[in-house]
Amino acid sequence: MPETILIVDDEPAILTTLSGILSDEGYEVQSASSGLEVIPMVQNTPPALVLLDIWMPEPDGIETLQRLKTFLPNLIVIMMSGHGSIETAVKAIKLGAYDYIEKPLSLEKVVLMVKHAFNEFHLREENRTLKKLVAKKYEMVGASRAILHLKEQIRMAAPSHSRVLISGENGTGKELVARTIHAESPRRNAPFLEVNCAAIPENLIESELFGYEKGAFTGAAQRKKGQFELASGGTLFLDEIGDMSLVTQAKVLRALQEQAFMRVGGHERVHVDVRVLAASNKDLPSEIKAGRFRDDLYYRLNVIPLNAPPLRERVDDIPLLISYFIKQVAEEQGIRAKRFTSEAFEYLKHYAWPGNVRELKNVAERLLIMAPTPIITSHDIPDFIRDATPPTYTPTSSVDKTKPLKEARSAFERAHILAELTENAWNIPQTAEALQIERTHLYRKMKVLNIKAPTEDPS
Ligand SMILES: Nc1ncnc2c1ncn2[C@@H]1O[C@H](COP(=O)(O)OP(=O)(O)OP(=O)(O)O)[C@@H](O)[C@H]1O
Ligand SMILES: [Mg+2]
Repeated sequence: MPETILIVDDEPAILTTLSGILSDEGYEVQSASSGLEVIPMVQNTPPALVLLDIWMPEPDGIETLQRLKTFLPNLIVIMMSGHGSIETAVKAIKLGAYDYIEKPLSLEKVVLMVKHAFNEFHLREENRTLKKLVAKKYEMVGASRAILHLKEQIRMAAPSHSRVLISGENGTGKELVARTIHAESPRRNAPFLEVNCAAIPENLIESELFGYEKGAFTGAAQRKKGQFELASGGTLFLDEIGDMSLVTQAKVLRALQEQAFMRVGGHERVHVDVRVLAASNKDLPSEIKAGRFRDDLYYRLNVIPLNAPPLRERVDDIPLLISYFIKQVAEEQGIRAKRFTSEAFEYLKHYAWPGNVRELKNVAERLLIMAPTPIITSHDIPDFIRDATPPTYTPTSSVDKTKPLKEARSAFERAHILAELTENAWNIPQTAEALQIERTHLYRKMKVLNIKAPTEDPS
């Protein structure tokens, strides 16, 4: 499919000439004679590249560029500027334009630049896809004592063939634990298959696990292998095992005892070599007491018990996880990572995260995409997090009655200035104005009170 180029210029002659030459080069060309037409046009069919005139009646090229970039951040935009407007062209580059070309246009140059831009664009795309693939290499992030302990247990359990039962609340990383065990085991090059016992209807789970023979039931036109058979040589992860019915539990138990099973409707025993890992967010011992889970199956599965600890018990990992997910999502989506003000960060550190790592990952992604500025302030933090977590420092909470007056005053000043800086997203002139002091005075205060702007890495 040819690539689409949109040309935007208020001079009809330029539109005609450029359209002609670029069509000859094999591109699909669209044109617009004003900035106003652009947005609805690109919303319908987004072009791959835009040639955009700077000097046009309102909205001019710069404004149009800004609008384009807000919803198509990866779009290649080449600005066309008249003589003497280099400064504007430089501004355009800062706003995300790919390059600029001066008028009067050399058609050769235009064609060359367009080709260059596409080459670079494809390289960037490729790079992004590769990064995505690499990122898929399930990494377990964390440096807290709890996670280090878990990693150590995984390291010991992985090389064996023993069954592992992983417990833990929702979103704590049970599946990640299972995948890590497989990846660190001698079975790593064989399949890792997952069966979510809670998601498969009762009447289908048996054939899902063990497969069926041709004619086993209406609709069984072919023999079909089940997950136990497909995972042969590898690992089968039985997720949400606590949701498996007692009938299915009995069949799974037999398969584990005998390392063999029969397909639904079959009479022949199928032998397999599969390592079974299981996970549940239910407390299985209480399920056993309640008569909903077989104790003999529990003992079969629970050879090595591992627990994925809730996030609130490893608060130290929160900053690491946030940085990790911000970076990961930014790379995946080809956008710039964002920083946090310390106050915004405090909220995230003190929230209880009932949905654990999954919830944190979603919040990080949402903040990165939805926060309007490159620095995430406490205003961007969702209400349910702000309401649940009073930040630890506020101007008043830092008042310590045991301190000598001078120290207490510094502590108060520091907290107050910090709060004001945070409110103003670390914009110095704005903060100075809010505090009604000179900018230089603010800088001096920040130095004396050791206040530093947040860095790229929120930890
Ligand atoms: N320590 C970690 N480092 C990096 N990513 C993590 C970590 N723990 C969990 N995740 C990520 O968080 C998300 C949720 O993890 P996972 O699906 O493994 O949790 P789970 O315990 O199986 O959840 P559920 O009970 O809801 O099935 C996944 O995207 C996973 O990759
Ligand atoms: Mg899971």
